[in-house]
Amino acid sequence: MGDMREIRNIVILTGAGVSAESGIDTFRSAGGLWENHRVEDVATPDAFARDPNLVLRFYDMRRAAIQEKEPNAAHVALARLEEHWPQRTGGKVLLVTQNVDDLHERGGSRRVIHMHGEHLNAWCTSCDVRSRWWGPLIDRPPCPVCSARTLRPDVVWFGEVPYRMGEIFAALREADLFVSIGTSGAVYPAAGFVKNARELGAQTLELNLERSQGSHHFHESRLGPASEVVPAWVEELLR
Ligand code: OAD
Repeated sequence: MGDMREIRNIVILTGAGVSAESGIDTFRSAGGLWENHRVEDVATPDAFARDPNLVLRFYDMRRAAIQEKEPNAAHVALARLEEHWPQRTGGKVLLVTQNVDDLHERGGSRRVIHMHGEHLNAWCTSCDVRSRWWGPLIDRPPCPVCSARTLRPDVVWFGEVPYRMGEIFAALREADLFVSIGTSGAVYPAAGFVKNARELGAQTLELNLERSQGSHHFHESRLGPASEVVPAWVEELLR
């Protein structure tokens, strides 16, 4: 891999592929369809304005489904890396995820940025407060803070700005290694992080089931299921 500067700070980007073996469908598998709707037609502010019940039902179903799932060996290995890497090297590990499930946290990770929001949050568009939420939203429950019946899923829709981009770019600037796991490289800005990191001098590694759209941007790609390639890579780093 190119010029080898010492690796201290690691930024890891994850996508739906890291949760696939926990039984959560990826977006672009199965043609990306949900009850004959394109996912892009459900996950937009326009769709919500046009047919809120459809959108709320979609997210209620997914919010319920993730609570039945368990983290897999990839989630657990990333938590192990976060725990041991700073002691070994004095460096930092930051996990940036496009996933809206909570499997990284349940796998033990603590430094996680959910750039596309979280299924288990409801966002009140009246008082702008986010509350932890496990149940459905379809019946328009009141906001626990202001009582307005204006809760929506705290998920970033197409056309909305991902969360915490300033923090993410600051971490990319400090990164010695950027690793992308289980993401198709189809959705920006996340798909552009590899180029940003590489231009700033980081080594770049892709771990994915198959070559992604952005594969050619990475110094190295390792192909295989996340539950196998991620633990193997973590063991290699911690050896
Ligand atoms: P995708 O469904 O686009 O891509 C999932 C990637 O994971 C594909 O490249 C698969 O080959 C790979 N994959 C599948 N199973 C795997 C496994 N067991 N191990 C490793 N890799 C595997 O999902 P994302 O890239 O996460 O945005 O999608 C990005 C964004 O598009 C999502 O966050 C969502 C969606 O629209 C929003 O909701 C804003």
